[in-house]
Amino acid sequence: MATKNTPKKIKKPTQKSPAKAADRVAELRAQVSYHNERYHTDDSPEIPDIEYDMLVRELEGLEAEYPQLVTADSPTQQVGNVGSVAFAPVEHELKMMSLDNAFNRQELDGWASRIAKGLDLDDAAAPVGYVCELKIDGVACSLRYENGVLVQAATRGNGSVGEDITANVRGIDVIPEKLKGKPPKVVEVRGEIYLPIDTFNALNDAQEAAGLARYANPRNTAAGSLRQKDPRVTASRGLAFWSYQLGVVEGGPVLDGHNAALDWLAKLGMPVNPERRRVDTIDDVVDFTDHWLEQRHDLAYEIDGAVVKVDGLQRQQALGSTAKAPRWAIAYKFPPEERTTTLLDIQVSIGRTGKATPFAVLEPVFVGGSTVQMATLHNDDQVRLKDVHPGDTVIVRKAGDVIPEVLRPVLAERPKRLKKWKFPTDCPACAKPLVRPEGEAHTFCVNPACPAQQQGKIEHFTSRGGMDIEGMGESRVALFIEQGFVSDVGDIYTVDWGEVAALEGFGQTSIDNLRSAIEASKDRPLSNLLVGLGIRHLGPAGAGLLAQNFGHIDAVAAASAEEMAAVDGVGPTIAASVAEYFSRPEAAELVEKFRAAGVNLVGPEQSSAPQVLAGMSIVVSGSLDGYTRDGAAEAITSRGGKNPGSVSKKTTALVVGAEPGASKVTKAEAAGVPIIDEAAFEALLADGSLPEAT
Ligand code: IVH
Repeated sequence: MATKNTPKKIKKPTQKSPAKAADRVAELRAQVSYHNERYHTDDSPEIPDIEYDMLVRELEGLEAEYPQLVTADSPTQQVGNVGSVAFAPVEHELKMMSLDNAFNRQELDGWASRIAKGLDLDDAAAPVGYVCELKIDGVACSLRYENGVLVQAATRGNGSVGEDITANVRGIDVIPEKLKGKPPKVVEVRGEIYLPIDTFNALNDAQEAAGLARYANPRNTAAGSLRQKDPRVTASRGLAFWSYQLGVVEGGPVLDGHNAALDWLAKLGMPVNPERRRVDTIDDVVDFTDHWLEQRHDLAYEIDGAVVKVDGLQRQQALGSTAKAPRWAIAYKFPPEERTTTLLDIQVSIGRTGKATPFAVLEPVFVGGSTVQMATLHNDDQVRLKDVHPGDTVIVRKAGDVIPEVLRPVLAERPKRLKKWKFPTDCPACAKPLVRPEGEAHTFCVNPACPAQQQGKIEHFTSRGGMDIEGMGESRVALFIEQGFVSDVGDIYTVDWGEVAALEGFGQTSIDNLRSAIEASKDRPLSNLLVGLGIRHLGPAGAGLLAQNFGHIDAVAAASAEEMAAVDGVGPTIAASVAEYFSRPEAAELVEKFRAAGVNLVGPEQSSAPQVLAGMSIVVSGSLDGYTRDGAAEAITSRGGKNPGSVSKKTTALVVGAEPGASKVTKAEAAGVPIIDEAAFEALLADGSLPEAT
């Protein structure tokens, strides 16, 4: 997480010489722009939000002190990100503003005073009428409904121009295609797309089962999910939405304030967060923020603060906005929760690739909604950078509010003569020397027979994303390795069950169950076997493509990296990694073990269907009698066609079943795309022909 761009200490912006101030401003701008890119473009922030906010604060402070240093391209003058190139631009008729932040009570009071002054009220404690809302940690989105039908969804982008994410947003279940009640001619609903915590955790479990890297936090995963080129991927992610603001409205009812606007949105069927509270004074606001500061982890989604808005529409108008944010609203940002605990030990774990990862063993501590007793320390450099010694009191928090992280030691509490931790020279599992390759941050156990590596590999092989062998969990794998029954994944199929029966704790029933689970795994698709091998970079999608295109494990093993990369959807990194894997003698040995055991090595039937839809793009909407959604997609793609989730000018035909999406039909009509029924779809599948236009 820490990089050379991470500010060590936030300097106070006071009385610098103009030359020094200019230097610092340039430095801060570079840092803020760099972190903007990491956050908005890569969806992969390197520093916690609070550190980013402090950099922006310092920059704003210096620019206020030295107005001559303000430039139009300063990050303080822009809203959010610059947008990525993948999606079509959408100009916001009404700018999507950002919010100013308050980080403590004093700053909140300062805002209340400015409100009171702006409204000519006696004092900051006077009743103003505020709406308190949760600040949902996700991705801002504007949804445009025309005559009650969703026609466009856009990200905020730079506030003036966002990205068209309509096709992806249509896959979010809680966002209605059609509004209820009496919808106006036009209404733009602004709100936050987010990933519920449970869904995030399930997604990460699946990543782990497939041997892929875990996602960092729900917010960035939500952003990444929205940027998918294939709307079906977005739809599979389980995103959700809370509405919190009106944009353009034409033909709606007369509303006197924000609270009434949210009530109206709820009536139209939009999801509106139930935790909002309409209060009178700033003291009531503080009750709300105090409450949620304590209870934030009881929610099913992440919040990073509260948003307070002046309720009355006339009052909002009187207060107005700056170029970037309304004066009538403020984001009260919660500090990330931090706790101190004792670092009991630093240990090293060996992963299935041999990577030796140091981790902190902590006195259990409750932080960020759960008890933490372990936290990764990533590698040797990180341990040194953090300067933590076993025995230290350390500060712990959840990075992105999810992943436990040791921040630093409390030096004032460091016992005298505490020893520095040294990275072990030998593998804790096999006692062979550990190796840190030149120029690499990580250290590895390079002994292929290392039991910890084998344990990781076998667990991965038997996991759900792999060969899905129920009953072969962590402890049994460990036992079988210890007993010498298995030393690689191929041995699972030649276990001597007589020897297992002699072990304590193995009844005939559990042996029978395990044997039949292993037997059943022999029939798994080739893609599961490929995933189960734990080849670096190869996930289920890539494995599926290789299985489909090469048809047999021998053909995959014999293919060159170039041949694999020629498969649409298999990138050069995956191809090179798979080719390297199969060049190893142990890979060939494994394949022979699988062959001898009768494990399925054949890919799905090469499509025998004639490729009558090659070059065509067929969209399906509504339910068909003879096909499930996946079945229709399969019927199209197996004939060489494409099956995108949305209609465009390039669409060959739109197939409509019962209750098709109104917007797809509208779009198809507008673009002159033929709209066909299920019978015509059958004919299309048979010979690639479309009915003649009538
Ligand atoms: S109101 C003109 N309300 O926070 C006011 N924003 O830091 C527009 N956010 O861009 C925003 N929860 O993405 C508003 N209840 C809420 C919010 C909220 C989360 C996000 C939103 C905004 C950002 C500003």
